[in-house]
Amino acid sequence: MSQEWVAVAKTADIEPGKMMPVTAGDKQLALYNIGGAFYASDNECTHAYAMLTDGTIDGDVIECPLHGGAFEIKTGKGLGAPIFCDLKCYPTRVSGDAVEVDVAA
Ligand code: FES
Repeated sequence: MSQEWVAVAKTADIEPGKMMPVTAGDKQLALYNIGGAFYASDNECTHAYAMLTDGTIDGDVIECPLHGGAFEIKTGKGLGAPIFCDLKCYPTRVSGDAVEVDVAA
């Protein structure tokens, strides 16, 4: 399986409990820091067109700003209506002071 690690942010850019939009090639991603660990997902909600980074984090759940749909940040699992399709997630790693995302995953 191929891998394509792309540096998307510095570790200091995003505090625990926060998220930020990042781009990696042609992908618009949401990058999250949950308790000091980094997670990445597609930024666009699977329900309609909204950027999840405009929403709110509650623990390890991201809530969409448009209709209140929610996903588990660590797995992308949708947590009920109006979400019927899980969110795509990407592996992350820290290399030096950079957060990298495997966009080929
Ligand atoms: Fe996200 Fe509807 S666009 S819940």
